[in-house]
This record gives sequence, C-alpha cells and structure tokens, in this order.
Amino acid sequence: MLRVEGLYTEYPNERGEIVKAAQDITFSVPEGRLFTLLGPSGCGKTTTLRSIAGLERPRVGEIAVKDRVVYSSAKGVFVAPNRRGFGMVFQSYAIWPHMSVYQNAAFPLQVGERRLSRQEARDKVMRVLAATQLDHLAEREATKLSGGQQQRLALARALVMEPQLLLLDEPLSNLDAKLREKMRFELKRLQRELRITTVYVTHDQSEALALSHEIAVMKDGRILQVGSPRDIYERPRNEFVADFVGSTNFLDGSVLGPDGDEGRYRVRTEIGDVSVLGTEPLRADDKVLLSVRPEDVALAEAKPAGANVWEGRVDQKVFLGECVDFQVKLGERVLLSRRHPSLRTPIGHAIFVQLDPEKCIALRAA
Ligand SMILES: Nc1ncnc2c1ncn2[C@@H]1O[C@H](COP(=O)(O)OP(=O)(O)OP(=O)(O)O)[C@@H](O)[C@H]1O
Ligand SMILES: [Mg+2]
Repeated sequence: MLRVEGLYTEYPNERGEIVKAAQDITFSVPEGRLFTLLGPSGCGKTTTLRSIAGLERPRVGEIAVKDRVVYSSAKGVFVAPNRRGFGMVFQSYAIWPHMSVYQNAAFPLQVGERRLSRQEARDKVMRVLAATQLDHLAEREATKLSGGQQQRLALARALVMEPQLLLLDEPLSNLDAKLREKMRFELKRLQRELRITTVYVTHDQSEALALSHEIAVMKDGRILQVGSPRDIYERPRNEFVADFVGSTNFLDGSVLGPDGDEGRYRVRTEIGDVSVLGTEPLRADDKVLLSVRPEDVALAEAKPAGANVWEGRVDQKVFLGECVDFQVKLGERVLLSRRHPSLRTPIGHAIFVQLDPEKCIALRAA
C-alpha cells in the first residue's frame, strides 16, 4: 500500500551546514495497517512523515501509494501535498476555535475539490463524528471541549476526507497520562474499524507497543530495526533498541561456546556463566552484551531448579502498586527485577535470582 524507499531528507541549518534529518529510510505498510516511527526527540520522525505528506522535498528516494508514485528523485516526480489525498494530524493539532464541532469536521469537505451535496456532506461528517464519539457534541463550540475531545476532533477532521493514508504526528502528546491511555485504545479501535492505513509518529515506547502492527525504531535519522511490537521488545537487535523500548538489564560478556540447541550459547559474565539466546551466530571469544528485561529476572526465597540461578541480596525495593521493583545485588552487580507485590522479601535478605534462558538475549557488543 505505502512504499517508502531510500529516502534522504536534509535541511540547511543557520550556519549553512547540512542537517541529515532522515537517511536511507525504507519501509512499507500493507493496506489497513498501523505503522509507527518510534525514536527519541530529533531522530527524524516528523521529517519522514512530512516527506511522505509532501511538505518536505527529499533529496533522494521514492514514495508510492498503491503503485501511484507521489515522489521519485529518479523519475523526477513530485506530487503537491494537496494532491496526494493523505490525511494528517500534526504534532500540535489545531482546531478552529470560532467554529462548532460540526463545522470543524465539515471544513475539509468545503474546501476540497470534490463538491458534495449538502446531504452527502452531512452524512459523511456525522459518520466520522459518530466514529470519534463526538456526534452528541456536534453543535458545541470547539473550544468548549476537553483535551481528549479536541484531539478526537482533529482526528475526525483528518478522517472526513476518507484519506487513503493517514499520517499522525504525536497526536496524543498534549494529553495527560490517563487520557492518553484511554485515547490510545480509542485510536486503536478506530483504526482497526475503519481499516485505514496509518503512519504514526511517537517518542513514547508504550504507545508504540500498544497501537502498532509494526514499529520502526529510529536513531540519528536512520531506522535501526523494523518489527512487530513483540519482536522489537523480545528480540531487540542492538543496544539502542533494547534500551529505548522498555527497560532492561545489560551485562557485558564473552562467548564460551554453543549451548545445546541452535542459537543458544554459554556466555561468561561478571555474575557467572549464563545460558543465552543469540540474535545472530556467535563464536567463542566474541564480545557480547546481554539484555534481560526486569520481568524476566525471577526471584525466589527457596532455590529454584534449572539454569541461570544465583544467590543474591535484596538491595532496594520500590513499590509501584501493581508491581514491586527489586534491586538485587549479585556481588558488585545490581540487577533490576519487576515482581508481583506478593513477594515481600525484606531489604538485606538473601534471595535467589534466575534469569530466564529464553529471555536472555546476546547482542553483539558495539
Ligand atoms: N526546518 C528545519 N530546518 C533545519 N533543521 C531542521 C528542520 N526541521 C528539523 N530539523 C532538524 O532535523 C532533525 C530531525 O528533526 P525532526 O523534527 O524530524 O525530529 P523528530 O524525531 O520529529 O523529533 P521530536 O520527537 O522532537 O518531534 C533535528 O536535528 C532537527 O533539529
Ligand atoms: Mg517531531
């Protein structure tokens, strides 16, 4: 459906130097899917989205939607933004304050190229207002909406043109945490119901995990890894992705050799020899970085059976309501373990640590 290939977009800065904002960006989004660009501030997410929208002109690359090329440096094609037929909600969404909810949502239809009858327009607008659960507020002044409702209105306005592609740039960033979580579910429902192909931009990893069919993790203008949310979380391919998406424990190690099944290795680390899963083929003496998520660091007061078990000591505890974060000391090393609050081992007490061998990932050291 959407195909982005080898996109390079640059800006000149104040000193006339070139900022390489997006480099070699390649991905495709199948029909009806939600694809997320995830990464820290300044990594090139908005630049990539604006390049797709036609608001920036890349130096090189090609962008096509359903085999219609809207930009190609090689073929000399550049379709103007208003002729691409994409819907967009910007990082700072803007509703028009002097209009009602209905008028806001209907506005794109009035300025659009296709002329609709009054009844057709009314049906379309009421359909998107119903989908965004704003139909009962249609006559209200747009400024008299809550933040979440305004956000939904910005979305309704992008949807009313029935764009073949929806581009969303941090559409939930202005909301408080609670509302953001609620809107996350609504957005997901809406996207799935309307089966609208979407490119979503966020720096919030939990939002990306919750919403996406696929995620591209970006850093310094480049895509480092593309995969399903579970892939990205459970099989990060490098240190940056492991660290940026979720929290994790890192351990430096050196490969001793294979460990039974294919893809399994024994690795020497400062806490002892660990059985791990390699993300790529490894050889003896390769330097690796182990990543294991806090929820995969099991704790028990009685010694458990199986591999990767050590005795440690509870160093710190942070009660978070639905879970407790334990910091457990193994020699000089502290590991973070996220446990159910039913585990109440006091600070200073001995505790057994077990690293789930299926969840200990060996990344090649940089
Ligand atoms: N118009 C511009 N002129 C010059 N440099 C720009 C311009 N727009 C963006 N940049 C630079 O390009 C890089 C990528 O910016 P971009 O806005 O794409 O980042 P982002 O990932 O969307 O970040 P954020 O999460 O903060 O919105 C940054 O270094 C930024 O300073
Ligand atoms: Mg941005």
